[in-house]
Amino acid sequence: MSRNGRKYTDEYRRSLEDPEGYWLDAARAVAWDVEPTQAYSGADAPISRWFPDGELNTSFNALDRHVAAGRGDQPALIHDSAMLGGTTTYTYSELTAAVAAFAGVLRAQGVGRGDRVVIYLPMIPEAAIAMLAAARLGAVHSVVFGGFAANELAVRIRDAAPKVVVTTSGGLEPNRHVEYLPTVHEALATAGAPELPVIVKHRDGFATDPGDLDWNHVDWDAALAGARPAAPVPVKATDPLYILYTSGTTGAPKGVVRDNGGHAVALLWTMANLYDIHAGDVWWTASDVGWVVGHSYIVYGPLLAGATTVMYEGKPVGTPDAGAFWRVIFQHRVKALFTAPTALRAIRKMDPEAALMGKYDVGTLQTLFTAGERLDTDTYHWASRVLGVPVVDHWWQTETGWGIVGNPRGLEPLPIKAGSPTLPMPGYDLRIVDGLGEPVAAGQEGNIVLRLPLPPGTLTTLWGDDQRYVDSYLSAFDGCYATGDSGYVDEDGYVFVMGRTDDVINVAGHRLSTGAIEQVVGKHPAVAECAVIGVADALKGQKAVGFVVLKSGVSIAADVLQKELVALVRKEIGPVADFKNATIVDALPKTRSGKILRKTMRQIADGDAYTVPSTIEDPAVIDALVPILAPGR
Ligand code: COA
Ligand code: AMP
Repeated sequence: MSRNGRKYTDEYRRSLEDPEGYWLDAARAVAWDVEPTQAYSGADAPISRWFPDGELNTSFNALDRHVAAGRGDQPALIHDSAMLGGTTTYTYSELTAAVAAFAGVLRAQGVGRGDRVVIYLPMIPEAAIAMLAAARLGAVHSVVFGGFAANELAVRIRDAAPKVVVTTSGGLEPNRHVEYLPTVHEALATAGAPELPVIVKHRDGFATDPGDLDWNHVDWDAALAGARPAAPVPVKATDPLYILYTSGTTGAPKGVVRDNGGHAVALLWTMANLYDIHAGDVWWTASDVGWVVGHSYIVYGPLLAGATTVMYEGKPVGTPDAGAFWRVIFQHRVKALFTAPTALRAIRKMDPEAALMGKYDVGTLQTLFTAGERLDTDTYHWASRVLGVPVVDHWWQTETGWGIVGNPRGLEPLPIKAGSPTLPMPGYDLRIVDGLGEPVAAGQEGNIVLRLPLPPGTLTTLWGDDQRYVDSYLSAFDGCYATGDSGYVDEDGYVFVMGRTDDVINVAGHRLSTGAIEQVVGKHPAVAECAVIGVADALKGQKAVGFVVLKSGVSIAADVLQKELVALVRKEIGPVADFKNATIVDALPKTRSGKILRKTMRQIADGDAYTVPSTIEDPAVIDALVPILAPGR
């Protein structure tokens, strides 16, 4: 880094040379019940423990402390519903009271420190309230994205074994009302837990008690009326705050565990240094509370910082038009927006010159942050041009909880290079290595790995399965965490993230497992075997496409099979999989040991250069597939 990056370079170097001093300094931003005297403990390695002797309450840090500091009347959360047309604002005092009251409801259901609370809610304030209420009691929440179907909810209920489920009767999608309770009932039955208390925030226009399950229903509003507000319960910094399930390479989702102390320290560091957002600023993350971006930057980050967070129930387009984002920025005087590139592509497709921006004064906006998928250079240039503010990509994942590579706008804005999320953030010792773990030269693509220990706020383990944590992330490269992404570092140290090295795909900024979709497709009685791959899509980044071989003797029309497979995936995984294409093929390309050559298939479909491995069983299968995978090429 030239003179431009001196401050960044000093901070980064110090974070790696003196992590104890660096993170204990950062920890001063937290209100502790017991101040930590130690930053990192490797005593339980490879499970990392940050601030092992510290105690705090995350809900207190996100709410009460700001009221005590005189911010009680400042808006904490603005819920803007493009679906219903209207906003609801909670000041810090009001949100604190709402969270304390709902924590009382949870406690009345027997929830205490360490107990799990599964939250299945759309983008309504109750989602944030339920999360913060669980945190207030020292309980562990696990939020499930509303676009997942009953089976996915059931898997999470079974794994997290919650004391209670918190849900609603309905969600609003542009083209339909989403009935939540039939899904919840089916999930409870599938999980074998029909007796679990289910706290329901009822919304007008939705079924209140579908089906004939004898369930333990608690009405959110009625329960609140009799609730005694609960005070924050101090917990150990190393106690879990939440579990967030994410897609891995197999069908079984991984329960990423986040602690309380490291999380608060890291998020506070990012709000100031990465995003330049401080108490009193208005910040908007257009994502969903069901994803890590929503956890970190709709709920916890902005509230820990004493900022105002905008929670948006709507889409970038169609609610009502491609000017929705500009309207929200204008109406709430948003200082910085964080969204996924796919949302920008959707807006651009509908309104290529952003003409609808002319209806609103978006002059308060200082920065646009993107993450969730690579910010393609086309979209970067378009957004920079129409907004006239820095457009800042940053790269991270559910596991890390905050930016691995970014551009620290609050610390020192670094020059932006289109296509790169910029430089590694403090605490992340990033290396590019080949398959054997050997460093590769600048400019050469390889596996992106992070030398251990990871900084505060990153995952501590996978829920209930330390061994899976080690096997999934820590075994491939000695002393390193494997990110699952490939990329390269250029001569200036800028990181370029090129894509996953495993079977995880990214559809409209949503992380999905092709393995999980394959498991569902493979259940169809006509299917002998199948491969699901993620192919490039101009709007959504990638889309999942299936190739199936029929069982011998079975005959079914291609369009009928596709319709049935699409319906099956929607029912088993959920609409979020956005699985729309399945093609019948004679055979799948395989190695002689039987491994399906998914990567080669993807390369052909994307029009990339491909090499057929010498271990291929039958090269003719590839030849037959080329016109199907890449018609017209
Ligand atoms: N509850 C129920 N269903 C949901 C849902 C939810 N919370 N979220 C999405 N779905 C459904 C959609 O309604 C759609 O259903 P359909 O097949 O009946 O139309 C399906 O899942 C696929 O949704 P999506 O991939 O989001 O496509 P879309 O066409 O509805 O919208 C975008 C496209 C680009 C506008 C939208 O994906 C978007 O805003 N993406 C931003 C992503 C984001 O913020 N990611 C978070 C990571 S930062
Ligand atoms: P998730 O866990 O849902 O946040 O998804 C994480 C994955 O999304 C990463 O491992 C990357 O493959 C991809 N990803 C997220 N942000 C970016 C980015 N800014 N650039 C490139 N890929 C990204």
